[in-house]
Amino acid sequence: MSTPDFPRLDPADPEFWSARYQARFAPWDAGRVPAQLRAFTAGVPPARVLVPGCGSGWDVRHFAESGWDVLGIDFSPEALEAARPVLGPHMARMRLADFFAPLVEEPFDVVYERALLCALPRRLWQSWGMRMAELVARGGRIAGFFYFGEGERGPPFALHSQAELAALLEPAFTCVEDAAVPDSIPVFAGKERWQQWQRIQGSQAAPPAHSATLALPGPNNSDCG
Ligand SMILES: C[S@@+](CC[C@H](N)C(=O)[O-])C[C@H]1O[C@@H](n2cnc3c(N)ncnc32)[C@H](O)[C@@H]1O
Repeated sequence: MSTPDFPRLDPADPEFWSARYQARFAPWDAGRVPAQLRAFTAGVPPARVLVPGCGSGWDVRHFAESGWDVLGIDFSPEALEAARPVLGPHMARMRLADFFAPLVEEPFDVVYERALLCALPRRLWQSWGMRMAELVARGGRIAGFFYFGEGERGPPFALHSQAELAALLEPAFTCVEDAAVPDSIPVFAGKERWQQWQRIQGSQAAPPAHSATLALPGPNNSDCG
């Protein structure tokens, strides 16, 4: 996919993403559901999940079809337009909203991360980590994909190390699973990891979710990174 000419915009603004959706330039869009997400939803009972920066909504659709109480948000109106044919009858599960703004439904049992952190300029990363701690209920999890690489340019903006990610999420979260990704799309191939981060019970913010506690399996791999 060759890159069209876009005006110089800040990826922190919805206009940056809307221009790309409008031009149908979305190299991050898998157009399908990753295997590790399918395994995750097959392995735990359905719960309340937020998909922030959900784009065209493939993952939102998968959660809905798997019986999860899912909310997808994106701050680009053009992302909602791209999602309309994908989500079909599940379109009510997606809303125009900014990740950093309060949601009446929070906190959630799970927040699913796919290509939001790497879409944000680094100056927003610390706020991303703090917002995650508000959004995930105690005992809940972040599950999803994290993009690692070199260099400063983006998007996608790459994490330079596991320690950099840990510095954003600890001590509110602890990493409980870390695995290679077998079915990455080209833009992320060889550079992303599937990880789960559990919200520490005792840390501040994020009271328990309104729904039943999420029955999550124990840690798979405590040696993240
Ligand atoms: C790289 S795309 C990934 C989309 C989707 N997660 C996927 O994997 O196909 C990043 C998405 O995050 C959205 N986004 C970026 N910053 C956001 C914010 N602060 N609040 C909500 N959505 C945001 C963009 O509009 C865009 O749809």
